[in-house]
Amino acid sequence: MAEDVPRGQTSGLTKSSGTQRRFPLPCSPAIPTMAKEPVRVLVTGAAGQIGYALVPMIARGVMLGADQPVILHMLDIPPAAEALNGVKMELVDAAFPLLKGVVATTDVVEACTGVNIAVMVGGFPRKEGMERKDVMSKNVSIYKSQASALENHAAANCKVLVVANPANTNALILKEFAPSIPEKNISCLTRLDHNRALGQVSERLNVQVSDVKNVIIWGNHSSTQYPDVNHATVKTPAGEKPVRGLVGDDAWLNGEFITTVQQRGAAIIKARKLSSALSAASAACDHIRDWVLGTPEGTWVSMGVYSDGSYNVPAGLIYSFPVTCCAGEWKIVQGLHIDEFSRKKLDLTAQELSEEKELAYSCLS
Ligand SMILES: NC(=O)c1ccc[n+]([C@@H]2O[C@H](COP(=O)([O-])OP(=O)(O)OC[C@H]3O[C@@H](n4cnc5c(N)ncnc54)[C@H](O)[C@@H]3O)[C@@H](O)[C@H]2O)c1
Repeated sequence: MAEDVPRGQTSGLTKSSGTQRRFPLPCSPAIPTMAKEPVRVLVTGAAGQIGYALVPMIARGVMLGADQPVILHMLDIPPAAEALNGVKMELVDAAFPLLKGVVATTDVVEACTGVNIAVMVGGFPRKEGMERKDVMSKNVSIYKSQASALENHAAANCKVLVVANPANTNALILKEFAPSIPEKNISCLTRLDHNRALGQVSERLNVQVSDVKNVIIWGNHSSTQYPDVNHATVKTPAGEKPVRGLVGDDAWLNGEFITTVQQRGAAIIKARKLSSALSAASAACDHIRDWVLGTPEGTWVSMGVYSDGSYNVPAGLIYSFPVTCCAGEWKIVQGLHIDEFSRKKLDLTAQELSEEKELAYSCLS
């Protein structure tokens, strides 16, 4: 028969004071840690498929670290309210130790109040028969109104990541309509494309993906993006080697590699009959984690950020650049050589973003 152990006391398998213990004693950390204040993280479109993959990652510490408590704010629209409540129920059932609270709401003001990080996944999808301008118009009005809610109700210095497509232009609209949020705090997700490029190189060279670094995604999160390996390296037993030299096949790197990364989203839809969700959620965690906690020494990542004219990219676009992050701030990596092939690709994707910007503004007027 089991021996009763009073609550709060332990027993163990080792002999101690003449009695046999059946459970190990609790261990205390070598260095006592200070309890951190919870960070409030907003996920819009939380009842959708990326939202469903993303919220447990955040609650498990994948985004902000295993010692960082979080309070999740989840927003969706009224037709998705019941599904959103179901996600909240599952979060409760998962008993995440880091999760200190959940706000699940269809009220944008309640959702945005006090948030330190906002991951904007909610948006209007393109439906059959819809013109590009119609989709743009729906999203421009969503991002205009959510910009005001964030500006008026988020915590000071809130960092914003836009995931919903058209991600760069939604982020630009958000920036324009939240003028008091510093432009350095508004970004869009191109980390999924960056990770896809790392994955393709790792598969081609049969090396660990964690040994590949410093690919770049330039421009728009669309099929005009330019995945660039000209500065990428692989860690080998003989030191870091350039990807281009190791692959030794410029035709592949300048052709199939680029189109595979550009069209990976469509390939996932074809295979899954649904768009990428787990990889998008994971990339959103990577994006925020590196932004907040910093990029490793000697490594850059790709982020869609407000162009300051670096690399002759027109200022005033949200464009994906190579960045390093330190102390919560990103900085565009400067001084990389851009060859003629790359120049054309950088300009082409900038051109598309300028056209999207124009279209977005025409929807506003
Ligand atoms: N940047 C990237 O790398 C990347 C990658 C994959 C997907 N995406 C984009 O992310 C978005 C979400 O993808 P998904 O697969 O989760 O879509 P989904 O349709 O499964 O989910 C979208 C959710 O947003 C909600 N929503 C719609 N309007 C809203 C609003 N005004 N406020 C709050 N919520 C709202 C919907 O009700 C739905 O629950 C899409 O725009 C998709 O194209 C971007």
